[in-house]
Amino acid sequence: MRITIRDVQAMKSRGERISMFTAYDYTTAKLLDRAGVPMLLVGDSLGMTVLGYDSTIPVTLDDMVHHVKAVMRGAHRPLVVGDMPFMTFQVSESQTVANAGRLLQVGGCQAVKLEGGVRVASTVKRLVEAGIPVMGHIGLTPQSVNELGGYRAQGKTAAAATRLLLDAQALEEAGAFAVVLECIPTPLARVITDRLKVPTIGIGAGPYCDGQVQVINDLLGLNPDFTPRHAKPYAQMGLSIIDIARQHMEAVQDGSFPEEQNGYQMDEAALAEFLQQA
Ligand code: KIV
Repeated sequence: MRITIRDVQAMKSRGERISMFTAYDYTTAKLLDRAGVPMLLVGDSLGMTVLGYDSTIPVTLDDMVHHVKAVMRGAHRPLVVGDMPFMTFQVSESQTVANAGRLLQVGGCQAVKLEGGVRVASTVKRLVEAGIPVMGHIGLTPQSVNELGGYRAQGKTAAAATRLLLDAQALEEAGAFAVVLECIPTPLARVITDRLKVPTIGIGAGPYCDGQVQVINDLLGLNPDFTPRHAKPYAQMGLSIIDIARQHMEAVQDGSFPEEQNGYQMDEAALAEFLQQA
């Protein structure tokens, strides 16, 4: 049975911590499903982790639909949330509903996530009225990198912290089923988590959130050149891939691969007939 937004909310009521991981492809989604992960995010971070852009801004709705579909083929139990890319929820509310609807109808995910607080609250309300579950996202909102002037923690002054609390409350009031808190001070995340009935899912927001989301590439250590401060790499798979590729090139070079057992044979008669014809 697939996990629902109600199950995730019940986890907060029971005081059970919620784990969410990003996933962008079938294989990873299948493995995370097998691990028992309750919630997957097909984040627009795929722009950087998978597509090689230097921000999430170039990611399109078509990119998201493509990756949501792949994740859905691998994930049968987790609640899957698809990110609304930059400019797919700003132009008009009716276009936003159509775009989010496409993520659910064509992509197959169960909910969408969009960045922003008070200024997107009426959009969130409209989506929820249309039957589309919405996860909010405040704090460091990467799609606003040009407005924020870089990827830096938010809510560090009393005024900024108050604005973020109001953002979180506006999202809850608009019907968001959960809110991501990205890169905000731990005490602020704690107050927001205490004040909201819906779960907060933190990334770089300290230990007092109801759940934690991590970018799967960071957990696996896939990027040997950069690990964000808030990430917990359990392996250095980027370096492992380089090492495996070098080992294999060496085996091809020195002739130790492939071995006899890696090949396919044909029966003697077919071989003799073939050699006669050749
Ligand atoms: O796109 C993403 O991966 C995200 C998470 C970092 C919350 O928005």
